[in-house]
Order: sequence, then structure tokens, then C-alpha cells
Amino acid sequence: MKNIGDMEKLIRPNLMGGTWYCASTSTETLAGKVNVAPQDIIKLNANENPYGCSPRVMRALAASHNLNIYPDDGQQELRKRLAAYAGVAPESIVASNGSNTLIDLIVRLFVGPGDEVINCVPTFDIYRFSTEVTGGTTVNVERDEDFAVSVKDVINAINNKTKLIFLATPNNPTGNAIPRKDLIEIIETGVPVVVDEAYYEFSGETIVPYKGYYANLMVIRSFSKWAGLAGLRIGYGIFPPRIAGYLMSIKIPHNVSAAAEIAVRESLSDLDYLQDRTKAIINERRRLFGELKKFLWLKPYPSRANFIYLAVLRGNASELYQKLQEKGILVRYFDREFLKNSIRISVGKPEHTDALVKALKELSE
Ligand SMILES: Cc1ncc(COP(=O)(O)O)c(C=O)c1O
Repeated sequence: MKNIGDMEKLIRPNLMGGTWYCASTSTETLAGKVNVAPQDIIKLNANENPYGCSPRVMRALAASHNLNIYPDDGQQELRKRLAAYAGVAPESIVASNGSNTLIDLIVRLFVGPGDEVINCVPTFDIYRFSTEVTGGTTVNVERDEDFAVSVKDVINAINNKTKLIFLATPNNPTGNAIPRKDLIEIIETGVPVVVDEAYYEFSGETIVPYKGYYANLMVIRSFSKWAGLAGLRIGYGIFPPRIAGYLMSIKIPHNVSAAAEIAVRESLSDLDYLQDRTKAIINERRRLFGELKKFLWLKPYPSRANFIYLAVLRGNASELYQKLQEKGILVRYFDREFLKNSIRISVGKPEHTDALVKALKELSE
């Protein structure tokens, strides 16, 4: 090969010019850009848990002497523990290093070039991302002005190329949940449906008890949010056992680290602690919503998750994002198709709400 251009010609054409996933800003990338020390930055841009993980996780990791040994690729103990938590059989469970990679794995199992995936936009962008990387096509079904999914529109979008329907409930970034009867109507079409319950612990609503009735229902969940393990990367899915078997056979070996396995074990043995923290976040979500409503230039939408989505009615969301960042507060802003002039704020601790409200008041003056 003479030059890099020759090599580029060999890249799959669908990967040459796409719009890929844009992850949230990390505090490290702000060093030198804002006048706030990294440890003082209030990070409300990635729906992380402000309380961190269970202290038992930290203690168990510090005491672990087996990190030189590969974790069990069959996830035997891990699947049992997750199954007990979810109230299903271990054969239904597949775990992975974050539910993101599980989404990717599901797409790889079902979707090839020419296949279609129904996406209820605006929603979590990884569904589109994984579909397009695989060579499939996303079919966008737009939500209404309150971000509700129209069952009729979803059903109308189904054709013989449809391989998957993704439904996030609560939805990221809009925070609203899909009513159970709507989920069931869509599942009853018989098309494989992935219900993404990454924020289940904050909404308290799950479709899992219906799993036994529907052979096309898959549910995915995460330990990143309620259990405060975003950095360790652990998610899991609940599948019909035969589908779980296929996913186990095509996953990359050892896709869950030994550290993440320990973290799951310790988190699940400290549920009271984690549930208390989850309740604190839900209470703070209520207070934050009330505070945000007082700003007439913002329109917060009710949320069932650990974040609040806001339309910016006067002014520019990217400027607001920038000005908050200068004050050391990181939020997520959107200005793209289906997500115009808006921001998403993760629910933090009470002092984070106070700092945010103070900053918004200063910016209102
Ligand atoms: C709806 C939804 N699903 C899945 C994920 C992925 O979470 P993780 O890969 O950290 O488990 C997220 C993360 O923000 C999300 O919002």
C-alpha cells in the first residue's frame, strides 16, 4: 500500500461519512478552559449518580486479590445474582460492560445491511448509532409535542424489513415514560422489541413481569445510574432464554470485568443503601422541577428519570450551556433535528440544585 488513502478505500463505505455518537463532555476536557478547579465542577451532564456507588463496592474492590484472573465468561454467578434481582431465570440474563454495548450486541444479532430499525425520536442516540454502524437503516417515528410515542405511527412504520423496535422508558433525554398499555400494543405486533429501562429504579415501572407472555420482548437495564457504577461499566438484559443463548455466543469473551462483577455482588447486597439514595434523587428531582418552573424563559418537562429536559423558550441553549459551564456547571445541550434549542440537567445533590438555581438567576438578570 502506497498511502493511507489506499487503506481508506477498504473501509466499509457506510462508515466513511456518518454522524456518529457524541458523548457528554468530561471534566478533564475543561482543564484550562474554565476558571473553576476540576474538583469544583458540578457535573450534571451525563445522568451519573451524585452519591457515587455503595461503599461496600469500594471496600470489596480494595480487598480483591483476583484481578489477575479472567472473569467467568459464562457469567454464571453474575447471571444468578442479576436474575434474582430482576425476578427472572438466570438463563434469561446477559450482562455486558454497560447497557450501551448490549444495545450494540442486540443490533448485531438482528440487523444487517438493508434491515430497518424503528426509533421513536427524539431518543437515546445509540440505537441509531449501532444500527448505522452495522449497515442497517433507522426509521424515525417522531414523538408528539409532549414526547409521547404514537402507537399507531409505530405500527404504520413496520414492514417486512423491520428487525427491531427500540423503546426507552423513561426516555432519554425527555424523561417521560411510555404507558404500559402502549408498550404492550407495540409488543403485540410480534416484531422484536427492546424496552430500555436504564432508568427503571427512578420510575419504579417495569415491563419485566410481562416477559413470560411475549417471546419477542427484550428488556435492558443499567447499573450506571441508580447504583452509581457508570465508570465501572455494567448493564444487563432480560431476554427469552434462546435469544440470551445467541447473545452469549456472539458476545466478545469476558465482556464484564472482574471488578464489575464484584461491584454487582456488593451493590445487590446493599440495596437499602442504594434505594435510599435513589429516593433522595427522586425527591431532589421534584424540588429541581419546581425551581426550574419559576424561570419563565425555560420549559421543564416532567421526568420519571434522574434528569430533567428543558426547552429554552427565550435565548439560545448553546449560550446557556456555555455560560453555565463558565460558572463551573456542566449540563447537556441539544440543537439538532427533533431536539431543538434545549438542555438536559441531571438531578444532583441539594447543593447542586442550589448552585444551579443561583447561576440561572444571575443569568436571568
Ligand atoms: C436510555 C439509555 N439507555 C442506555 C444507556 C447506557 O447506559 P450504560 O451503557 O452506562 O449502561 C443510557 C445512558 O445514558 C441511556 O440513557
